[in-house]
Amino acid sequence: MIDNYKGFGLAKTIAVVCAQFGDTGKGKMVDVFAEQADIIVRGTGGDNAGHTIKTDDAEYIFHLIPSGICYDGAGKINIIGNGTVIYPKTLCDELELLGQKKMSYEHLFIALNAHLILPQHIVLDRLKECQAGQTKIGTTGKGIGPTYVDHVNRCGLIMNDLLNKDTFVKKFRHNLSAKQAIFQQYPAEVIEKIMHHEHLENGCYYHGQDVFNEEAIIAKYMAYGKVLSDMISDADAYVRISVSKKNILLEGAQGLLLSIDYGTYPYVTSSDPSVYGLAKGSGLSVSEIDLTFGIIKGFYMTRVGRGPFPTEMGGQQSDEWCNDNPQARAEENILLDMSVNHHEEFYQGMAIRQVGNEYGATTGRPRRIGWLDLVLLRHALKYLPSKNLILTKLDVLNDCEIIKICDYYSYNGRPIRLGKSYLPTGSMISNLAIIPAEILEHCRPNYKTFPGWQEDLNSCQSFADLPTKLKDILDYITDNTGANHRIISIGPKREQTIFI
Ligand code: GDP
Ligand code: IMO
Ligand code: MG
Repeated sequence: MIDNYKGFGLAKTIAVVCAQFGDTGKGKMVDVFAEQADIIVRGTGGDNAGHTIKTDDAEYIFHLIPSGICYDGAGKINIIGNGTVIYPKTLCDELELLGQKKMSYEHLFIALNAHLILPQHIVLDRLKECQAGQTKIGTTGKGIGPTYVDHVNRCGLIMNDLLNKDTFVKKFRHNLSAKQAIFQQYPAEVIEKIMHHEHLENGCYYHGQDVFNEEAIIAKYMAYGKVLSDMISDADAYVRISVSKKNILLEGAQGLLLSIDYGTYPYVTSSDPSVYGLAKGSGLSVSEIDLTFGIIKGFYMTRVGRGPFPTEMGGQQSDEWCNDNPQARAEENILLDMSVNHHEEFYQGMAIRQVGNEYGATTGRPRRIGWLDLVLLRHALKYLPSKNLILTKLDVLNDCEIIKICDYYSYNGRPIRLGKSYLPTGSMISNLAIIPAEILEHCRPNYKTFPGWQEDLNSCQSFADLPTKLKDILDYITDNTGANHRIISIGPKREQTIFI
């Protein structure tokens, strides 16, 4: 289907994943590609994701529904795949929003074997986080981790259980009873507060001493089951039989550096956002994907929540500001004189956050800002067949006088064995086999600096139109990582996209 994906060869099945810490513009790019797709599948994660699509007159943020939904009216199929975890309330809220905006979702399907997020998962997630102190991950509090844990622990519920009340009730009671002993260990008032959170339907699942009102939960989930019943289906089979016949677009969630398998463990999510996880969670194997794109921001990175971030502008000060100060966003809004060229990196990062509107689409938290890190990019590229990159948000750095790219780290931690090799204190690192927190926390970035292009990119319509200084940075990245730059995004809208 040569031109079907804007000239990217004969690809019929393509995947879009993030090669950083998430929020790189998957929503925008999936929406761009969806025009040529027949089927769009979200295959991993849950409502921890927030994918934004911007049009001339509207902005949509989807947490569970695939970003191809704007094309439902044109008959395109959108699927929430088996690898996702689904909180029915979020899904039903999203459907209602679509209805209010007069957007159709007639062709939306949900894999019957996707796992179900239950109230106890959300409570567990939040309890763990509020008691964790220094080991806090900074999760989205959506119950993602505990739901994947139950999947692996063989006590989870699946979407199909919503269609069979007896099965649901039996499995639900079994799942909950195994957790009661854990809940008893926490102060009652902490649990009560969590249970009254809006996300847990303002206390309608709360039962005082027994904590959970089982009957209320069962009734509510059965009601959700009724709303979703026509959508719950054997999506795996549909995707499988469509391979090589229809144009399939797989939409990643989160990012490679948050992968449970390849990320900055333990500061990761609980699914595998790589193309391997995405393929499996969509009902396919990776060999059935013809073309994969990894998205990065050009030339900076963001991270929401805790975890190592060697190139973070302002280092620990920024980490604490973004993670520990609930008023950070409000306070930033009144600091109007920030410049993307501020001589203090903490404030420079804040300015880039404002220009790029880098506040979480799911939690509203300020996203931590750092320069592009080629050590982490080299790591991500190991899991990206054909190394095709999409660079988004180039316009955010238009006014920067200097752009810094981290080429390698200096390791200042204790000597450490890494398999058969050895990482002595003071060593220089340009590649890592694994990127656990205990190593990255002791890595200091070494930068190459470039002059910024300092012009508006809005008039650029093709690669040739891009400023030479910007192209020089692209060349440097290719020469030092092997990445192929295929698409450049210079604004949030569909038309602000340059295919190379
Ligand atoms: P996702 O989670 O990967 O889908 O990304 P998010 O939607 O969480 O965050 C990306 C944000 O950047 C959204 O607000 C997009 O509208 C916006 N965006 C995407 N591409 C561009 C771009 O090239 N330039 C600018 N300025 N914004 C962009
Ligand atoms: P999209 O798809 C950015 C982060 C959280 C936290 C860690 C674990 O919009 O790119 P979790 O709730 O998943 O257990 O939290 O992962 N995280 C994301 N960060 N974008 C996302 O999704 C994320 N989904 C989870 O902030 O650090
Ligand atoms: Mg996002």
